[in-house]
Amino acid sequence: MSPLPAAPIDQAMAAQPGSRTVYIETFGCQMNHSDTEVVLARLHSAGYQRTEHMDLASLVLFNTCAVRDHAEAKVRGRLGALKPIKRLRPELRIALMGCMAQREKDALLSAYPQLDLVVGTDQFVHLPQLLEEIETGRRIAATEFGDFESTLWPAQRAAGINAWVPIMRGCNYNCTYCVVPATRGKEKSRPAEQIEEEVRRLAAEGFVQVTLLGQTVDAYGKTLGDGSTLASLLRRLHPIPGLKRLRFVTSHPKDITDELLDTMAELPKVAKHLHVPAQSGSDRMLRLMGRRYTRGEYLVLVERARRRMPDIELLSDFIVGFPRESNADFNDTVSLMEEVRFASSYVFMYSQRPATPSAHLPDDVPEQVKRERCTRLLDLQLTHQGQHYATLHGQSRAVLVEGPSKNDDAMLCGRSIGNLNIVFPRYAPDGASRDQVIGDLVDIRIARSTSLTLFGDLAPE
Ligand code: SAH
Ligand code: SF4
Ligand code: F3S
Repeated sequence: MSPLPAAPIDQAMAAQPGSRTVYIETFGCQMNHSDTEVVLARLHSAGYQRTEHMDLASLVLFNTCAVRDHAEAKVRGRLGALKPIKRLRPELRIALMGCMAQREKDALLSAYPQLDLVVGTDQFVHLPQLLEEIETGRRIAATEFGDFESTLWPAQRAAGINAWVPIMRGCNYNCTYCVVPATRGKEKSRPAEQIEEEVRRLAAEGFVQVTLLGQTVDAYGKTLGDGSTLASLLRRLHPIPGLKRLRFVTSHPKDITDELLDTMAELPKVAKHLHVPAQSGSDRMLRLMGRRYTRGEYLVLVERARRRMPDIELLSDFIVGFPRESNADFNDTVSLMEEVRFASSYVFMYSQRPATPSAHLPDDVPEQVKRERCTRLLDLQLTHQGQHYATLHGQSRAVLVEGPSKNDDAMLCGRSIGNLNIVFPRYAPDGASRDQVIGDLVDIRIARSTSLTLFGDLAPE
């Protein structure tokens, strides 16, 4: 994501009067990035060109996240920095969309006089009309929840092999720490035929890897009432010509059915990978978090998945420092991590969010303790990753090649069916470029690893 320009705004470079240029910065999860793609398409139809330079923009748009205070603090900082700029350029329009916009609504207009428009998570498709309306001098907060079907298409996607496709929005769980049910509303699934049509088009355009998105993606279909499930959707999408890999995120442990696991095991293009957050290994914490499963039930789920797919890779999220988390509770999380040995984990320090069910509990784990627990879990995760990767040396994996590695231009990178990052030399020993394999599945023999990356080379035929 592009940082704010360090230098003060250059008047000579400022947007030409009357030109329509948008600078957009996206925070938060993949769903927000996907919403940005939709908004860019709508703005493009309304005559806006995208710019990477804030000082060339006639519209600055932040697509915000509210999941932790830290995410909102970044946006507050951006808005603060824009205050003097808006004074210099009153014609500049500043708008906020996404989860922070939905959470704070018109209160944001009172707090930030430089802000012209606040657009909620179901209203952003109307951005072009709203931008017309604010030209009459009104400042607007449009944050009603509304109809879902019209909100997704078309999208302006970055070129490449990857496309992300929302299949549902919202969340019907009520994890006590979480703002998402308030910022994204009730669960709503998208009809399967609409998803199939979009994936067919994407595959025809050359997007060979599609990731299906939802807050609890494995609950897909419940609100449709036509018997659709994530398993039936995977079966429907699997034969689409041109499609090489199908992934989905994020799963809730309670919604992973045997039907889904059997389908994953059976369909070769479906990733053998589950992002299925455990959050904690302590039953007491899981109860206080409102997660609706026990540690034992989570472990049974892991066993059910591994019995069908011995090579499946599991990814978890953990929250440390939830109210009342004792050393014993934290040690239960450590031991869960030891027992499962995840392929990777995200670890977050609890951040109390206004108006969530846990907001009334005292945020009583000291910052320092949260930090120590976070570091301890991350260290353990890295140890497990390093050990796991070392066992793969000498083995081959089918890698879908995504492009040059971000860290080293001389390497190509891709992912295994289990979502492991694998890199290999971009140039053959004779110096010939291998870029023609981008978008292909190739066999890579793994030779060495760090705790983050596997290194290998094309396996001999
Ligand atoms: N829908 C997904 C993820 C939602 S948010 C799911 O249910 O798994 C992504 C992650 O942020 C969560 O899994 C959780 O680990 C973390 N998170 C959510 N609210 C948080 C909070 N208030 N403080 C710290 N971490 C939080
Ligand atoms: Fe938040 Fe829980 Fe819903 Fe995930 S399942 S989005 S953590 S309320
Ligand atoms: Fe953040 Fe909203 Fe996603 S709170 S994590 S952008 S659903």
